[in-house]
Amino acid sequence: ALLALTSLVLGSSSLAQQVNQTVSILDTSSGYNREMNVLVFWALAFAVIIFIGVSAALFYTVQKFREDKNDAAPAQFHGNNRLEVTLVAVPVVIVIFLALLTVRAMARLNPTPAGAYPVNAVAAQFYWNFEYPNLKVNPAAGNGLVTNGNEIIVPTQTKIAMTATARDVIHGFWAPNLGGQRDAIPGVKKTWQIDTDKAGVYQGNCTLLCGASHANMRFKVIALPKADYDQFASAAQAYKAPAAAAGTPAAAGYAIFMQGKGGSGACAACHRIQGTAAAGQAGPDLSFFGSRRTLGAGAWEGADVDTHLHQWIKASSSIKPGSLMPHYDGSTPNYPTLTDQDLTDLEAYLKTLQLPAEGNYWTKIA
Ligand code: CUA
Repeated sequence: ALLALTSLVLGSSSLAQQVNQTVSILDTSSGYNREMNVLVFWALAFAVIIFIGVSAALFYTVQKFREDKNDAAPAQFHGNNRLEVTLVAVPVVIVIFLALLTVRAMARLNPTPAGAYPVNAVAAQFYWNFEYPNLKVNPAAGNGLVTNGNEIIVPTQTKIAMTATARDVIHGFWAPNLGGQRDAIPGVKKTWQIDTDKAGVYQGNCTLLCGASHANMRFKVIALPKADYDQFASAAQAYKAPAAAAGTPAAAGYAIFMQGKGGSGACAACHRIQGTAAAGQAGPDLSFFGSRRTLGAGAWEGADVDTHLHQWIKASSSIKPGSLMPHYDGSTPNYPTLTDQDLTDLEAYLKTLQLPAEGNYWTKIA
């Protein structure tokens, strides 16, 4: 009953507004959280027992020693050694017990198990890139696969060795259903484990105030059964952005993406698209943009993506505070003004950047 109550309280303090499943640190699909639940249970149990004990003593004292029942002066005494020793000893025993449980949990969770599957989270204002060192896109160069758009794909029933770091300021990585929170600090690599037994989509969010769009720095963890994950992994490794057919809007968008307009403002200078010459590192990786269901680090999802994409490319910080992308409406010096037609062409191109059907992780989620 205690756990259910706590789950309700913690689950309702959801991280994001667009939560389509329960966000809970008590999700028992995760081995990490199961370990934590033991600590939560004992800490809560002691807290409840102590609360009831203290309340009962207080109530008893107030009733028994009410002034109108006690005309005579109360008995006078100084100290009660047995009571005082008990009141010190009991909390000490409780604290030692909780400390031992905590040390045991730390010993079980902190070393990342050998053979755990590595995924790196790289935070920046205000988005995430996720790297998969085991998935080689270009074996000669040793480059790992990168997904972006704040959708991180992991296999179920697998210990994930997460690493978090940041490019600019301190951010925080937390997907409560899968395990503990860690800070993402520039120049530091924090490693820990997360896991889940249950396939599904789980919410995550940046957990440290990092600027104007801290609240718009969300991500989704898409946990796939191993066979499905392997299909995604091989499709993603083999992926090369499809070439746009000459004369189509997508081809016009491709040209703007690669060269900008009038000799400046190429998107490719800041964004990477796997299998093309676009190798920019300053902004989010756009390799699988057309397969994503979110825009602006989860600021919009589903139908809202289409509604906002136009304005997003044109002047991103007008709809997402603090976004660092230059404006393409003439208000950023040295950047070209894109017409509505240019923007439509760019959108057409971005939407072609789709994983093949067997690699599309969204369609694998029931
Ligand atoms: Cu990134 Cu808060």
